[in-house]
Amino acid sequence: MKIKVIEGKRIHECLIKKNIRLDMLLKQIGILLDMPCGGNHTCGKCKVRVSGKLSTLTKDERKLLTEDEVKNNIRLACFTKVFGDINIYPNVDATDTLSMITLPKYNLTGKGYGLAVDIGTTTVAMQLYDLSTGKMLSEALGVNAQGSFGADVISRIQNAADNGNKYQQDAIQNQLNLMAKDCITQAGVDYINKSVITGNTTMLHFYEGLEVKNLATAPFTPTSLFGMKSNHTLVKSPIYLPKCIGSYIGADITCTILATEMIHHSDKIELLADLGTNGEVVLNIYGKLYCASTAAGPAFEGANLTFGMKAGKGAIAKVSIKANKVFYKTVGNTPAKGICGSGILDAVSIMLELKIIDETGHIDSEFEGPGKIIYHNEELAWQIPGTKISVTQKDIRQIQLAKSAIFAGIKTLLKKENLSPEDIDTFYIAGGFGHYMNRHSAANIGLFPKELEDRIKLIGNGALSGAATLLLDTDQRVNEKSIISKSKEIELSGNPTFSEHYVDGMLFSHY
Ligand code: FES
Repeated sequence: MKIKVIEGKRIHECLIKKNIRLDMLLKQIGILLDMPCGGNHTCGKCKVRVSGKLSTLTKDERKLLTEDEVKNNIRLACFTKVFGDINIYPNVDATDTLSMITLPKYNLTGKGYGLAVDIGTTTVAMQLYDLSTGKMLSEALGVNAQGSFGADVISRIQNAADNGNKYQQDAIQNQLNLMAKDCITQAGVDYINKSVITGNTTMLHFYEGLEVKNLATAPFTPTSLFGMKSNHTLVKSPIYLPKCIGSYIGADITCTILATEMIHHSDKIELLADLGTNGEVVLNIYGKLYCASTAAGPAFEGANLTFGMKAGKGAIAKVSIKANKVFYKTVGNTPAKGICGSGILDAVSIMLELKIIDETGHIDSEFEGPGKIIYHNEELAWQIPGTKISVTQKDIRQIQLAKSAIFAGIKTLLKKENLSPEDIDTFYIAGGFGHYMNRHSAANIGLFPKELEDRIKLIGNGALSGAATLLLDTDQRVNEKSIISKSKEIELSGNPTFSEHYVDGMLFSHY
């Protein structure tokens, strides 16, 4: 029989035999999977993100997948049979997609189809949902089209001050419309009933076309904190923009808090860190929420690094060491093209372990051991064995800046209530990078206090989860309001506790 395999913008018409296995079908269209056990149902490696007319999950397949993977349409190709049209999610490894999400408890309140969108400073993620079943039908991911106006919010606000914000508004609106059309094609639906777009306060200002200049100068007064209907539409659907907590704690954090269900945990002390370009930290102390924003920069998303790239095919996502031999793994098991956030974290951790760098981050030019010390564009660098990818002195500095911003943000909030890391019940980490980083490498380089390592709960793209929850269940707006009323923004710039920990955090002395 003839079926359609939708792979992003590509549509393959395939002739299949009844009960064809997914890995065989993918082979027909040129997608080769890593299958170490040769399809014998034991390794659990043949993961694919796929939806459509497929056999149901068996107990044995279920055993080899995590709960998160099942919720996010990950299947094992050698277990799965194809019965009709399917969507496969291209260009990202099944386990490295940025939009892995976990939804909190919700009720379905709508009908038709809706779009949940997270406008990140670096990455934009969108998912299309069936509002009557809660099923995610398709998704699109992209690098924020405003990137050419600056990598971070401050440089984009500066650009808007010089050139007006219309260009950036057009860039993001056009991008969302194109992504929405992709989602519609992939899902095979004809219309969208409503959308929820979340993002940090600056991103929502740009989307709405509001004045942004006050966001860059004290007292940082936003033109709007949203929590309202947008003046625009997305593929003709009305848009709800969730409410921001403050100028630098945006609706993305409101949504992430919603996703953690923290507001219902009034008997606990919890911490949340969203590891994006703007690193946000939230402390829940018995239902009271302290929130702070710290400029981590885009290094964790693979940007601003010499060989940096997002977690797409060919990105070194893992580096490990055994018996003085260094190993690496790329997304999609393809030749190494660059390095993404989780890979650089492992690499820096190994550089510390091998004493290639000292506690100040300085690379030892005389180092002898695995890998080579080279000069790349006149920068001292360590080349990862077996690749042409290196970590330069400049990259180490970027990582030091990023990790000390998060570390100092956490320490400052803890100090506010005289808490120590041991007092924290759960440490939620949000963000695509956070989902895949090696928590031991992260603790090793001092991204957060070591004591938090075994309290981590990864929640993936919390902003997108929260947006999807608001889309599927309009009653969640009560919880959204409650988050706003319980939150207090803590200013970090000029805060002496923050400055002190920021300077300390630059060192790798925790190792
Ligand atoms: S190839 Fe090993 S489980 Fe599918």
